[in-house]
Amino acid sequence: MDTLEAIRKRRSVRSFKPDPIPEEDLRKILEAASWAPSAGNCQPLELVVVKDPGVKEEVMEAAFGQSFVGEAPVVVVVCAEVERTTRRYGRRGELFYVQDTAAATQNLLLAATALGYGTCWVGAFSEEEVAKALRLPRGVRPLAIVPIGKSAESPEAPPRLPLREIVHRDRY
Ligand SMILES: Cc1cc2nc3c(=O)[nH]c(=O)nc-3n(C[C@H](O)[C@H](O)[C@H](O)COP(=O)(O)O)c2cc1C
Repeated sequence: MDTLEAIRKRRSVRSFKPDPIPEEDLRKILEAASWAPSAGNCQPLELVVVKDPGVKEEVMEAAFGQSFVGEAPVVVVVCAEVERTTRRYGRRGELFYVQDTAAATQNLLLAATALGYGTCWVGAFSEEEVAKALRLPRGVRPLAIVPIGKSAESPEAPPRLPLREIVHRDRY
């Protein structure tokens, strides 16, 4: 699948089959995340791969009970080790590590799509509870939860604003 096709085919999937993900595919997905750009190449990215049903359940509860999180065979929690970026860029670094991990998350979603898996970017969760469930050290912030698995649904694409409403030529 080429890049543009993966971009168009990716959907937020909220129902998963229990089939496990082969390690080789998982590795490709995680590697795609690691190849995202980061400000100054500081690479604040840290990835927690959750397969244990008990830990998954805790993460699902921390995501306000979004049950599909617990259904997926693998849940990746995308985190940032904040200081890797802020010690170099100060306050601007607070923005950069969020952008860096967002880029990594999108790479992860697109790689999973290209390999035939469904994903959903989950941002509604208690940071404190996720950090507790995963035993994250101080200074490591969870920024996205991504359940990954074979899709058990084929959602319609939600509409997008037309380009004529969001693209500005030369000046806003
Ligand atoms: C930062 C962010 C946070 C999101 N949080 C959630 C979430 O907590 N639960 C959920 O079901 N979907 C979540 N989504 C998925 C969006 O609802 C979804 O991307 C949007 O409706 C467009 O649908 P599509 O992804 O199929 O194109 C989130 C997406 C982003 C980018």
